[in-house]
Amino acid sequence: MKVDRTLPADLIARQYDYMERVRAWNPPGLMAHILTFGCQQNEADSERIAGMAEAMGYTLTDNAAEADLIVINTCAVREHAELKALSVTGQFKHLKQEKKHLVIAMCGCMVSQEHRKDSIKASYPYVDFIFGTSKLYTFPEILYDCLVTRKRKFYLDAGDPGNVPEGLPVARASSFKAWVSIMYGCNNFCTYCIVPYVRGRERSRRREEVIAEVKALADAGYREITLLGQNVNSYGKDLYDGYDFADLLADLAVLPGDFVLRFMTSHPKDASQKLVDVMAAHPKIAKAFHLPLQSGSDRILSAMNRHYDGKTYLAFVSYLREKMPDCALTTDIIVGFPGETEEDFEATLAMLARVQYDNIYSFLFSPRKGTKAAVMPDQVPEEVKKARFERLLTLQNDISRQKNEALVGKTLTVLVEGRSKTDDTKLTGRSESNRLVHFEGADSLIGRLARVRVLRADIHALYGCLADDR
Ligand code: SAH
Ligand code: SF4
Ligand code: F3S
Repeated sequence: MKVDRTLPADLIARQYDYMERVRAWNPPGLMAHILTFGCQQNEADSERIAGMAEAMGYTLTDNAAEADLIVINTCAVREHAELKALSVTGQFKHLKQEKKHLVIAMCGCMVSQEHRKDSIKASYPYVDFIFGTSKLYTFPEILYDCLVTRKRKFYLDAGDPGNVPEGLPVARASSFKAWVSIMYGCNNFCTYCIVPYVRGRERSRRREEVIAEVKALADAGYREITLLGQNVNSYGKDLYDGYDFADLLADLAVLPGDFVLRFMTSHPKDASQKLVDVMAAHPKIAKAFHLPLQSGSDRILSAMNRHYDGKTYLAFVSYLREKMPDCALTTDIIVGFPGETEEDFEATLAMLARVQYDNIYSFLFSPRKGTKAAVMPDQVPEEVKKARFERLLTLQNDISRQKNEALVGKTLTVLVEGRSKTDDTKLTGRSESNRLVHFEGADSLIGRLARVRVLRADIHALYGCLADDR
């Protein structure tokens, strides 16, 4: 059954009304500090929160100490992410003591869990309100209520399937790179993952909304537009008969403008040859594919509820490489899923050796309360997980180094992001394959595409100089 979860326009208009009310209630000159943990989806959400804050009269600041409003957008994907958000929240306690009118709010995936909501209510009395992911669009209304009543409130609808808010203001962090969520939530329930519990059911934005947003970004001179979803390959299934992610990508790739399209993340079970064909046909789509494998063992993949095996994964990879030999391929790996034996782990190493990823993002399995894997028998001891993790990295580092070294002498197109954080004589950017590239150049290149000849490479980055071919 098709369900369009786009919120009615009057619900959004009501929030604009509250934005006005907050602006009228507050003295002028207030500042807001928004802190984001987690994935790009959360960064995109924070840009909406920032947009709403600006519309309510707040000026954004990176300095929490000067803020009158602090919003902490949290992640729950691994324990480490939760602990970081909690520890940072703890550090704001003294700010509240110094500045009584300071409003501290928490939102996002961590606080969308009932047990976290309860513990914050009990142990973080200086947090004024929380709002779960499905309440994001009501931020102005909640903030207004908090300012007027000065009462603590905890907004969470456990089990809310979620919604699709359109037309909220957005304050983008960059003037040349943009996130565009094309769908929200997830239906896959991989047994280790908390995301489906905290982000609701899979729901797509209407294609005309996505196309209009991307068009506006391209017209405004954005150079890189990344389409976001937990599983972009199932875009449209809830809305359309026959219009899928590949169709959307093809529609976006023909929009006018000098921009590159990226997307993440793809679930291997739904990755289609049609998608590869669309990528190969359109120069505006970056030749880079992030395809999370998670494990090389079929037994573990099945316990993870991933719905593919090594063989089908490899068949997709060979199709991809046949159509786009230069396409970068990256992946996510979880080490130490419950029941993972030495043999299972070696199957993961073997996949890495076989596929030769350009880069991998690897994680120690972190049990998430409420997920199936958290209570599975045969949890792998921490020290075994860590030892395997090291072996995985050693292997991948060799592969990454070789792949990077193979680029020495080549000239790449690089989106220049800014000055290098470690060496301000250098600019830093990302190649089409998403590699970090450092080179000397003028500030005027920031936000633009440059041609860089690669002179040297290591595991993590390429070093080059501006090429004179453009
Ligand atoms: N929707 C995306 C992934 C979102 S989470 C997808 O399906 O590919 C990003 C990555 O975090 C996952 O790919 C997985 O490798 C990792 N991850 C998720 N839950 C985890 C857990 N409980 N422990 C360790 N890593 C986890
Ligand atoms: Fe989590 Fe799996 Fe959904 Fe990705 S596809 S968000 S790993 S449940
Ligand atoms: Fe993203 Fe973390 Fe939520 S990875 S979807 S912010 S749990």
